[in-house]
Amino acid sequence: MYFKFTFCPIILLLWASLSFAQNVNVVIHGAASIAKTDDNFVCVTLDWWPAEKCDYNQCPWGKAGILNLDLRYGALINAIKAFNPLRIKVGGSLQDNVVYKVGEVSSCPNFMKREDGLFGFSQGCLSMERWDQLNRFFNHTGVKLTFGLNALFGRNESQTEKGLWIGDWQPQNTRDFMQYTISKGYKVDSYEFGLFFFHTSKKYISSGNQLSGSGMGAKVDAKQYGKDVIVLKNLVKELYAHPETQPKVLGPGGFYEEKWFNTFLEVSGQGIVDGLTHHIYNLGPGDDPNMMNKILDPSYLNQVSQTYKGVSDVVNKFRPQLGAWVSESGGALNGGSKDVSRTFADGFWYLDQMGMASTYDQKVFCRQALIGGNYGLLNATTFVPNPDYYGALLWHQLMGSTVLAVTKETDPNLRVYAHCAKKKPGVSLIFINLSKDRSFNITLSNAKPGDAGKPNYEFVGKQNREEYHLRALTGDIKDDIVCLNDVPMVQTDSEDIPAMDPKLVDASTPISIAAQSIAYVTIRDFEAPACV
Ligand SMILES: *[C@@H]1O[C@H](CO)[C@@H](O)[C@H](O)[C@H]1NC(C)=O
Ligand SMILES: *[C@@H]1O[C@H](CO)[C@@H](O)[C@H](O)[C@H]1NC(C)=O
Ligand SMILES: *[C@@H]1O[C@H](CO)[C@@H](O)[C@H](O)[C@H]1NC(C)=O
Ligand SMILES: *[C@@H]1O[C@H](CO)[C@@H](O)[C@H](O)[C@H]1NC(C)=O
Ligand SMILES: *[C@@H]1O[C@H](CO)[C@@H](O)[C@H](O)[C@H]1NC(C)=O
Repeated sequence: MYFKFTFCPIILLLWASLSFAQNVNVVIHGAASIAKTDDNFVCVTLDWWPAEKCDYNQCPWGKAGILNLDLRYGALINAIKAFNPLRIKVGGSLQDNVVYKVGEVSSCPNFMKREDGLFGFSQGCLSMERWDQLNRFFNHTGVKLTFGLNALFGRNESQTEKGLWIGDWQPQNTRDFMQYTISKGYKVDSYEFGLFFFHTSKKYISSGNQLSGSGMGAKVDAKQYGKDVIVLKNLVKELYAHPETQPKVLGPGGFYEEKWFNTFLEVSGQGIVDGLTHHIYNLGPGDDPNMMNKILDPSYLNQVSQTYKGVSDVVNKFRPQLGAWVSESGGALNGGSKDVSRTFADGFWYLDQMGMASTYDQKVFCRQALIGGNYGLLNATTFVPNPDYYGALLWHQLMGSTVLAVTKETDPNLRVYAHCAKKKPGVSLIFINLSKDRSFNITLSNAKPGDAGKPNYEFVGKQNREEYHLRALTGDIKDDIVCLNDVPMVQTDSEDIPAMDPKLVDASTPISIAAQSIAYVTIRDFEAPACV
C-alpha cells in the first residue's frame, strides 16, 4: 500500500438501487442443526513452493514458501495472531518431495527445477534449524498445526506407467522427524498423509499443460496407500504414547474420486484415518479469462456441491472420527488467478465455498494459501491482507460450529448461510449478493420446530442487530481493498489488523444487502433451539 484510504466513497448507484430493492423471505430452520464444523473451521496453508515456481509466465511465490518466508514481519505475525488461534496446514504439492534432515539423513539438497521431477522440481530439504524456527513462530503466533508428510518416501516411479509410484512407503525418515519433534516438545495437531494426485482428474490439468509438461503429480494405488496409512498410524501411536496428545492422522489429501477413496478406506479399515481430506479447485486453471464470470454465476458455483455430496457419502459409510476436511482449496489452480484471487470478487467464491462446505458437514476448510501465489490471503511481497483475509477473519469470529438449514424464495443471486453465533446467544448469517443491479431487503422467518412445510412465522426482533457489510472500495469488485461498514480495511501504522466493529441496526428496519456485496449479520434475540 503506498497511500492510505481513510474513508470509503459512498456509491450513489448502490443507494439508489436500495429503493428498488427486492424483498426476499429467508427462513432459518433453528430447531435442529444440519451439520457441525470444527471450532477452527477456517484454516490456511503454507506451501513449499520455491521462488522458481512459475505458471502462465509469472512467478508469484517469491519468498513466500515455507523454506524462504521471513518469519519476523510484524504484519505476518499480527495477521495470524488476530485469529487466536489460526489453523495452519503446512503442505502442498511438493510435500512428497521433502526430505527431513535428521537421523540417517545428514545432507540433502534444496529444491531445484527439474523437468522430470515431481511437479517440475527435484527433492527438497527441511533442516531441523528451519523446523525449529517455524515452531517458535507457530508457538508465538498461536497456530494449530497440521503437517503434511512425505508419502512417497522410498517408493519408485513405475517404468511402465508414468506418474504411478510403486512399492511400500518407508517410514524411517518420518520416524526420525517425529522423534525430533517430540523431543523438542513441538505441538502437532495432526499429520496428513497426503498426495496431490492428478490421476483421472484430467479436467484439472490446464490447457497450457504445465503440470504434465514439466513434471506431474504422483499417484499411488489405493490399496497400497491404505496399507501405508496403517503403518503411519501405528508409528504415531508408538511414538506419542499419551492418547490425549496424540496427533490425528489425516488423508488422502487429493481430489475426490469415489472408487479410489472407497478402496483406500476399505483397506485401511476403522480407526486408522481420523479425518478424510480432499482438495477443491472448482474454478479450474488460473489463467482462464472467464474467471470473473464463473465467480458470479450461481449455477457454476453450485456444481461443486456434487463433490461435497460424494465426500459426505463416503464419510457416512466409513465414519472417520474427524469427518471430512477440505485440506486445500485455492479456487483457481496453479497459483490462483492473477486478476481475480486478490480482489473483493474472490469472496463471492471463497465465502460461498465455506458456507456450502459447512452445510455438507465438512469440518475444516483450508485456503491455499495464507501467503504466496496469487491466491494468498496476504500479499506475498507487502504482507498486506487481501479482502478475503478480512472475510475469513469475520467468519472465524462470528460463525459458530453449529450449522442451520436455510431456505429462501428462489433468487439464486442471493446466497445465505446460517450458523449459531460463535459467541452465544443467537445466530450469525452470511448474505452474499451476486446480483449486479439489484439489492435485497430480507424478511426473516423462524421455522416452527417439527412443522416442516407449514407456514413459518416472521421473526420480529427487539434487540439491535450486529451487521458487518463488506463491499469493494470504489464499488468495482476488482478492487483489492474492502470496506467494512464503510471503513476501508487497511492495517494500522503498527501493522495491526484494524478494528472490525459491527454496525448496530435497529431491529425494526429490514436487513438490506447491497448489490455485489457481502454481509455478516448476528441476531442475538433470534431463538433457535439448536443454538441454546
Ligand atoms: C428496503 O429497505 C430500505 C432501507 O430500510 C427501504 O428504504 C426500502 O424502502 C426497502 N425496500 C422495499 C422494497 O421494501
Ligand atoms: C508455546 O510453548 C510453551 C512452552 O513449551 C507452551 O507452554 C505453550 O503452551 C506454547 N504455546 C502454544 C500456543 O502452543
Ligand atoms: C527403488 O529403487 C531403488 C534403487 O534403484 C532400489 O534399491 C529399491 O529397492 C527400489 N524400491 C522399490 C520399492 O522398488
Ligand atoms: C502485491 O501488492 C503489489 C503492490 O500493491 C501488487 O503490485 C502485486 O500484484 C501484489 N501481488 C499479488 C500476488 O497480489
Ligand atoms: C443484490 O444487489 C442488487 C444490486 O444492488 C440488489 O438490487 C439486490 O436487492 C441485492 N440482493 C439482496 C438479496 O440483497
